[in-house]
Amino acid sequence: MAIFKNPYRPGAGHMPPHLAGRETEYAEFDRLLRQEEILENLVLTGLRGVGKTVLLETFKPRAIAAGWLWCGTDLSESASVSERNLAERILTDLAVITSGLTVRITDAPGVGFGSEATERDVPITYDVLRRVFDNTPGLTSDKLKSVLRFAADYLIAGETPRVIFAYDEAQNLADNAGKEEFPLSMLLDVFAGLQRSGISFLLVLTGLPTLFPKLVEARTYAERMFRVIMLGRLSEGESEDAIKKPLDVADCPVRFTELSVRAIANEAGGYPYFIQFICREVFDAVLQQSDPERPQPIPIGAIQRKLDTDFFAGRWARATDRQRELLYLISGLEQCDEEFTIQEVVAASKQADIKEFSASHVNQMLAALAGQGLVYKNRFGKYSLAVPLLSQFIQRVYSDA
Ligand SMILES: Nc1ncnc2c1ncn2[C@@H]1O[C@H](COP(=O)(O)OP(=O)(O)O)[C@@H](O)[C@H]1O
Ligand SMILES: [Mg+2]
Repeated sequence: MAIFKNPYRPGAGHMPPHLAGRETEYAEFDRLLRQEEILENLVLTGLRGVGKTVLLETFKPRAIAAGWLWCGTDLSESASVSERNLAERILTDLAVITSGLTVRITDAPGVGFGSEATERDVPITYDVLRRVFDNTPGLTSDKLKSVLRFAADYLIAGETPRVIFAYDEAQNLADNAGKEEFPLSMLLDVFAGLQRSGISFLLVLTGLPTLFPKLVEARTYAERMFRVIMLGRLSEGESEDAIKKPLDVADCPVRFTELSVRAIANEAGGYPYFIQFICREVFDAVLQQSDPERPQPIPIGAIQRKLDTDFFAGRWARATDRQRELLYLISGLEQCDEEFTIQEVVAASKQADIKEFSASHVNQMLAALAGQGLVYKNRFGKYSLAVPLLSQFIQRVYSDA
């Protein structure tokens, strides 16, 4: 028998064997692609592991099929610390699509009689863009804007002037008043300006739930400039698709029973990363089962422990004892998987068998936990846990102890 590889792909940015659901997100994206004049850009946001990166990747061929060009990358922290770095990043990305176009330049005449100015076509490479950038006087934002306008002129001549600039992990963008660096504001100003003058350059930003509040904090008009899609859990049916469809191929030696499918879906809570993780483990367990007559093994306990070590333990280890107590209180709140308030945490601490937390103390600690990426504050001042299924993990830790 040919070796059939385990098809599941738990891991950041790994394309799943079957990307389940997301029809409404595709419809919304298609609608943005149909804009004549760009009035709305896109923010695609959600918790870690919910599927932002892979969805963004599937947006690309869709946009190209609709006649758009596409460029962009991951915004690692270093690319986003200064205006200069971000501008350079954008130039590099832009060069990928402009280097297929040419610009006519005139060479100065050489010395001596008979030599005349000659014209030739050169591709619009990074160096050409860089020259436009360097030759534009003014602020970094002026320079960047003029390069983008320059590119737009040539793209119009080439008849595909519509371009998507897609940036993943955009929550890394931040203004820094202390250092007088405002890369985030620059990005918004530059694109808003270009879009006002009728240039069809569309921004697609992907990132953790802190992203959109950050944009609005930098520029209040960001509120109107972006359509926000909050990527959530998969429905039960979608979860089952994600679990079963990868096995629906002719030479797959493994089929999950309905019981297994339901157990996996239930354990994963609709979170794509957990679906991939659990499926990969169950697949291996089933493949290794020696007696096909016995019921299918679903080693949920063992998988859970592995997931705890691989996914949760690192983040938990960085929390102090008092922070853990606070998180434990939160994990007991009824609405903890949606959102919660400082008052609810304070009230719970009065009931619990621990040293009470005051409101200002909770406020401070939540700010620290937000810095550690364990919680985040939404636009309406409520808090949510920033790691999917964290509450259940905390409950397990405490019930084990
Ligand atoms: N719609 C989906 N159906 C099935 N698996 C998915 C889906 N979306 C994401 N995944 C899987 O979930 C994991 C996390 O996806 P990723 O795009 O890296 O999330 P994020 O960027 O939001 O952190 C990956 O293993 C990916 O294969
Ligand atoms: Mg990602």
